[in-house]
Amino acid sequence: MSGTPLELPMPPSDLRWRVSASRDPDQFESMGVSIAKTIEILGGLRESGAGMRCLDLGCGCGRVLRKLAPGWPLIDWHGADPDGEAIAWCLKHLGGLATWHHSSYWPPLDFPSDAFDLVFVVSVFTHLPEDWQLAMLAELARIVRPDGRVIISVYSPTLHRVLPSEVQGEIRTRGILHLSDGGTSGLGTCYQTCLHTRDYLNETWSRFLDIRHHVDRAFFGAQDAVVMAPPEAGDQVVGVRQRTGARPLKQFPPSVANASFGGSWALRGKSKELNFKGSSDAKGEMQNDDCKS
Ligand SMILES: C[S@@+](CC[C@H](N)C(=O)[O-])C[C@H]1O[C@@H](n2cnc3c(N)ncnc32)[C@H](O)[C@@H]1O
Repeated sequence: MSGTPLELPMPPSDLRWRVSASRDPDQFESMGVSIAKTIEILGGLRESGAGMRCLDLGCGCGRVLRKLAPGWPLIDWHGADPDGEAIAWCLKHLGGLATWHHSSYWPPLDFPSDAFDLVFVVSVFTHLPEDWQLAMLAELARIVRPDGRVIISVYSPTLHRVLPSEVQGEIRTRGILHLSDGGTSGLGTCYQTCLHTRDYLNETWSRFLDIRHHVDRAFFGAQDAVVMAPPEAGDQVVGVRQRTGARPLKQFPPSVANASFGGSWALRGKSKELNFKGSSDAKGEMQNDDCKS
């Protein structure tokens, strides 16, 4: 990434809140830079990027693409999100950086098969329920090229420690837990908090795509990166993934792996405040009934 040559406009506070759980423009900027660096390192961007097509699924108001795309002008960038207001803002203010898609909440996505060299999905599977996740994993396997890769972020299990012990126990037993955290206005009632164990990912996600690497706390010190690829791809498939899981990516720079935001960021900024029984205060601005396929 060669820095951002353009002065790009800042999205309004409400749109920043939806992606960062913060209204602080500096945090929006610094997290965008940090996530973009991680994607650049893990995403297999090659040479000039010419001929590559890449998708930021759940791009929101463009926090990542506004930092990533300017450094790779030859890549055909796409951003997709069911948040119509965020996509309308991107179209108006970041129009030339990428092609922006107002996508449906549930698959299928409106892309042909084998469309993308890279699809990254940051801080989305950390919020949506399991049935959506499984449907979307199948869809990602469809739209990624045979030699492409998919990067999905999940909450680092180190963060599970802030949760009450009975909740930690449930996560261990079930492998995945979708918790009500009060919701986020504008993002639909299904948009809560979702936690996974590494065993669950190895057993369930690898039915859709091979897990090549699992990078601890790759995103802003709080979310792990699960790097996946279609089984036919050239890289060596990770060992006995059902038992051992993906190997750590040794070459991942510690400076990125250890980046954090002073401990103020955890579980959408609500560390220790998760309201497990609370009802959602989401206003349902998403027009579709997002919890049903
Ligand atoms: C925490 S934000 C992350 C935004 C962006 N990936 C980033 O890191 O800046 C989560 C995003 O997921 C989007 N989202 C919610 N439901 C979705 C769905 N069903 N499919 C795709 N994206 C969804 C939200 O609209 C929101 O933009």
